[in-house]
Amino acid sequence: TGTRQYTIDVIAGDGIGQEVMPAALRCVDALADAHGFTVRWRERDWGSDHYRAHGRMMPADGIEQLASGDGVLLGAVGAPDIPDDVTLWGLLIPIRREFHQYVNLRPIRILPGVTSPLRGLDELDLVVVRENIEGEYSEVGGRLYRGRPEEMAVQESVFTRAGVTRIARYAAELAQQRSGRLVSATKSNGIIHTMPFWDEVVEATAAEYQGVTVERVLIDALAARMVLKPRSVDVVVASNLFGDILSDLAAGAAGSIGVAPSANLNPEKTHPSMFEPVHGSAPDIAGQGIANPVGTMWAAAMMLDHLGEGGAARHLESAFEQAMAGGTLTGDLGGTASTEEFTQAVLARCATAP
Ligand code: NAI
Ligand code: MG
Repeated sequence: TGTRQYTIDVIAGDGIGQEVMPAALRCVDALADAHGFTVRWRERDWGSDHYRAHGRMMPADGIEQLASGDGVLLGAVGAPDIPDDVTLWGLLIPIRREFHQYVNLRPIRILPGVTSPLRGLDELDLVVVRENIEGEYSEVGGRLYRGRPEEMAVQESVFTRAGVTRIARYAAELAQQRSGRLVSATKSNGIIHTMPFWDEVVEATAAEYQGVTVERVLIDALAARMVLKPRSVDVVVASNLFGDILSDLAAGAAGSIGVAPSANLNPEKTHPSMFEPVHGSAPDIAGQGIANPVGTMWAAAMMLDHLGEGGAARHLESAFEQAMAGGTLTGDLGGTASTEEFTQAVLARCATAP
């Protein structure tokens, strides 16, 4: 055993990132032996403290440092005294772009012990496939006449054939492995250049996948449908902005943002991929030892899966699901367990066969 070795960069980051990350790392360490691999963690003290000390969220050669690893686990970044665009554009977005992590994968399930705010909804299992490096989040544009009455701001969306094709491929393949039903989020009635292009490329690409049907749904109607009939949706493919909003909406429908994970994937594995919980640094509860570590544990499971350790990934998922089903829940889910107590409950299930 221990023949397969992985080097993973760990950026615990700010606030509760410092609390949920160690919990997830302990679970992976506990599983590694039984599943025949080892992980070398390279802990990086990057984030807001690094910014206060050095004026940057990560060192100038941060990307190069990460490039030699097999993956990145990120806790959360963000602090009340630093503008959010500094924390985001200083760390997360450069990593996503430099490493060509063009898929943002957001699985959404109602976990045991979690109550959906939607009446009567006790089961949900869907995946949002969000385009992660182009689209609406572009650097093309600018501001003119700052502070004057004639001030203006322009921000261009960027959609490329290559970019839309590769995200559509990923989503169609995933849909093929699941129900065959692919929903494409669009707005081609109002956004008349980029969105018809999106529709054409998504549909032409998905047509190559046997057994996959594409349903084109306008983003506003889709938002309503995900509240009214969320189980009618299985795999959603969406642009950067639409996917960002829809995945949080779906995570809300599943009952909690504290348990939701997200993977920033470079599917070709030419660069490391990055795995993170969806939530932020939660300054309101940081330092109290009560944060829910499930989002980070689930992200770590997605990382194991991406590394080819599917057995360990499923073991970890069933360990935290069983801990939750057994009634050990943190405060955000209405329970009384601390981060440590919950982690102990998961660790106990990592020691036994799933
Ligand atoms: P947030 O996700 O940090 O917190 C929202 C609410 O959910 C808070 O009441 C918090 O206590 C609760 N919460 C979040 N995660 C939890 C967990 N694991 N267990 C229990 N409760 C949890 O979002 P917020 O407050 O909007 O942002 C705080 C900071 O985090 C900001 O600086 C923001 O920019 C940053 N942020 C960073 C992200 C990232 O690193 N990817 C993502 C979202 C926000
Ligand atoms: Mg978001």
